[in-house]
Amino acid sequence: MELPPRRKLFDFQGVSMTHYFTDNWDNVQNFQARENDIMIATYPKAGTTWISYILDQLHYGPVAPKCQTSLVDRVPFLEMNIPQIPTGIEMLDKLATSARLIKTHLPVQFIPRSFWEQNCRMVYVARNAKDNLVSYFNFDPMNLAQPEPGDWNHFLQRFMDGKMVFGLWYDHVTGWWEKKQTHSKIHCMFYEDMIEDLGRELDRLCSFLGLSPSLEEKARVIEKSQFDNMKKNSMTNHSSIAFMDFKISPFMRKGKVGD
Ligand code: A3P
Repeated sequence: MELPPRRKLFDFQGVSMTHYFTDNWDNVQNFQARENDIMIATYPKAGTTWISYILDQLHYGPVAPKCQTSLVDRVPFLEMNIPQIPTGIEMLDKLATSARLIKTHLPVQFIPRSFWEQNCRMVYVARNAKDNLVSYFNFDPMNLAQPEPGDWNHFLQRFMDGKMVFGLWYDHVTGWWEKKQTHSKIHCMFYEDMIEDLGRELDRLCSFLGLSPSLEEKARVIEKSQFDNMKKNSMTNHSSIAFMDFKISPFMRKGKVGD
């Protein structure tokens, strides 16, 4: 596959974006969510893959939907529109399940209307700004579809100015947090809480989703979702993504608080 070129940031309705996430805009905005769909929303590098895998296991149980091996296929990325690979919407249309898990990095004001109309459940994960930034700084060099990262000083300034794909971290997190205050179908989680006590966070998540897994099932999910296990697992470590250069950095990098 020919690698996608790195794109430049541009201002999109007040948020820094690249065309890979805006070129399919009308289809994204007109996307028809279903009542039982679950949205996973995060600022990039806040633990999206981690929560996606946890939800994937809770949602589908030990038996995965047929023909979809990678988490990337099982939890499609709504707004993604990178040449030579199916768009997020195309992947969602192909999913052989009635209740879908849908990933997005969109700030809350860009969420398509149908998700609110259908009163879909949404899980938002936030990560402290410093670790989020460090993770993003290590990600952009290896993800060839991201803008040129530049050096640390430049990247830090960009992060503080909100000149990152999906905009300012602060606006993203506070936007979702404020929405949650008036919308009971949003469950906010924190990466640091998940590191501290994943069992407790799993209980809270299950209570939000109306699920009651057995103790064995819960233990299985926790075990499979450990950093080292996800790093080894080709379904979760993103090793199938052609535009990521694992010689530069692994996707599953450190998984720590305070890095
Ligand atoms: P680091 O770069 O700090 O290691 P996203 O999925 O939103 O892109 O986030 C990626 C970050 O989440 C990476 O952080 C990655 O290592 C971390 N991560 C993924 N799975 C994890 C897990 N099971 N436990 C802890 N951190 C995890």
